[in-house]
Amino acid sequence: MNKKILNILKKKNKSPIVSLTAYSKSVAKILDKYCDIILVGDSMANVLYGLDNTHKITLQNIIQHTLSVKKGINKSLLVVDMPKGTYTNENLAKKNAKLLIKITGCDAIKIESNNKNFKIINTLVKAKIPVMGHIGYTPQFKKKFKIQGGTKNKRKKLLEEALAIEKAGAFSIVLECIVPQTSKLITNKLKIPTIGIGSSNNCDGQILVTDDMLGLSGFYPKFVKKYASLNRIIEKAVKKYTRDVKIKKFPKKKNFLNGSKF
Ligand code: KIV
Repeated sequence: MNKKILNILKKKNKSPIVSLTAYSKSVAKILDKYCDIILVGDSMANVLYGLDNTHKITLQNIIQHTLSVKKGINKSLLVVDMPKGTYTNENLAKKNAKLLIKITGCDAIKIESNNKNFKIINTLVKAKIPVMGHIGYTPQFKKKFKIQGGTKNKRKKLLEEALAIEKAGAFSIVLECIVPQTSKLITNKLKIPTIGIGSSNNCDGQILVTDDMLGLSGFYPKFVKKYASLNRIIEKAVKKYTRDVKIKKFPKKKNFLNGSKF
């Protein structure tokens, strides 16, 4: 197994995993000093391309930005989002994931769950492609930006989904906008690390969209902590974010999602 992935697995229950998104070499270079995982997210749709959702991001978009990001990375695990429509069946997923890895040299790919595509994950894993799962609010499949897992029934369903993704062979899983009780349950039941976004500090690690946390995107829901407002303090801000995550100062209780309001 990839050494970097082994290191991520070893952090479960030991040391919080620090993750951020990057779409360019210059940002990746700063992040690399502090992050365990750098994600080339399809959030580039909103952040870079000014689109309303992630649906129009293409494999070519992702490849171009990953090639740039890769140049700024020395030590972090490089994970890349598979765009919507590029993994609708096992053969297509395998073909596109292999292409992505071959062209960009990324370490792993991330796939959003639609609560059905477990076999696709398993096919990729069997083909030696490391997969990160993604549950809760999944922008490729869910139209409404909504808090997830707030009822007993929804909690049970999200846990089942997370367990199926683990069983399919994913090495970690993103929990997006999941209430603290549910993210705690999933994190406790899973052997693989959970990476939270808007899912409290009950997760094994945290991820945020870098442009949001630097105050560049204009998108600041409650779970986003703005660490800076200006480009020139990017490095200072990433360092502080990293420290906060490591000592579990972020997210604070006030960032936790409860009820239905952000
Ligand atoms: O696209 C992205 O940036 C993501 C993170 C929000 C986890 O999927």
